[in-house]
Amino acid sequence: MRFRLEGRTVLLTGGSSGIGAATARLLARRGCELILVGRHERGLRHVGEMTGARTLTADLTLSEELPRVADAAAGADVLINNAGIGWAGEFIDMPSEHVQRLLAVNLAAPLELTRLLLPEMRQRGGGHVVFVSSIAAVGVRDEAVYSATKAGLRAFAAGVRHELGGAGVGVTTVLPGAVRTPFFRRRGRAYERGFPRQVSAELVASRIVRAIEQGSRESFVPRWLGAASRMQGGMPGIFNRLNGLFGGDR
Ligand SMILES: NC(=O)c1ccc[n+]([C@@H]2O[C@H](COP(=O)([O-])OP(=O)(O)OC[C@H]3O[C@@H](n4cnc5c(N)ncnc54)[C@H](OP(=O)(O)O)[C@@H]3O)[C@@H](O)[C@H]2O)c1
Repeated sequence: MRFRLEGRTVLLTGGSSGIGAATARLLARRGCELILVGRHERGLRHVGEMTGARTLTADLTLSEELPRVADAAAGADVLINNAGIGWAGEFIDMPSEHVQRLLAVNLAAPLELTRLLLPEMRQRGGGHVVFVSSIAAVGVRDEAVYSATKAGLRAFAAGVRHELGGAGVGVTTVLPGAVRTPFFRRRGRAYERGFPRQVSAELVASRIVRAIEQGSRESFVPRWLGAASRMQGGMPGIFNRLNGLFGGDR
């Protein structure tokens, strides 16, 4: 199912930084009308000025903000659920407040925004929803809750995709590995591993755009990471040994 982006209205969460800002720049060049969401007005305004986007300041941890975000994007053709946060450390040391915050931003907000915007896309018989998940969806050490939220997104996307069948609405899950963005600084622990190497936010943005245009179900960035996911299903013993060796960045 090919999808033409020119002239489409796109709601992009987490548009103020990293992967979201790079995606906004690329979509603006494709001729999209953008609505960018984030908490920090300064970052949002900066990307908004570069891309001609409308910007909306909202905290996605607050469920009462979500209808306002969806209203501002009523009739949107594309929803890109990109906003996300991390937390690194052993689960037993993770304060409940952080658990709740990760669940709210990474999982509950994308589900609710999809619930609010999907009916119109379906009625119109066209649209696309993207979930920016992570290779951490396979389950990695010291990122148990983050992994759970990203695996949750992947499973949710698969379920909704089945429900939509031939309704003309595409659903894509994007699973990046490590990406060079402020994400690691913000979560409080730098990315210290030499492998896998970090990729650029621009590469992930280009895969998001291509996945929408081509109607791809899943996109791993870089592509070879797809092998890790396939190995988890097909060779769980070997996968678990390798995940023990490589699946954590300390
Ligand atoms: N970087 C990586 O290695 C990597 C790898 C795999 C997947 N990902 C995923 O990619 C997505 C984008 O991350 P990134 O690497 O680009 O990180 P980033 O540069 O830190 O960007 C995160 C974005 O999410 C927004 N955000 C965070 N909390 C929010 C909240 N409560 N309400 C509204 N917006 C919020 C931030 O906006 P404000 O600060 O303005 O609120 C920012 O625009 C995330 O879902 C992340 O999990 C990242």
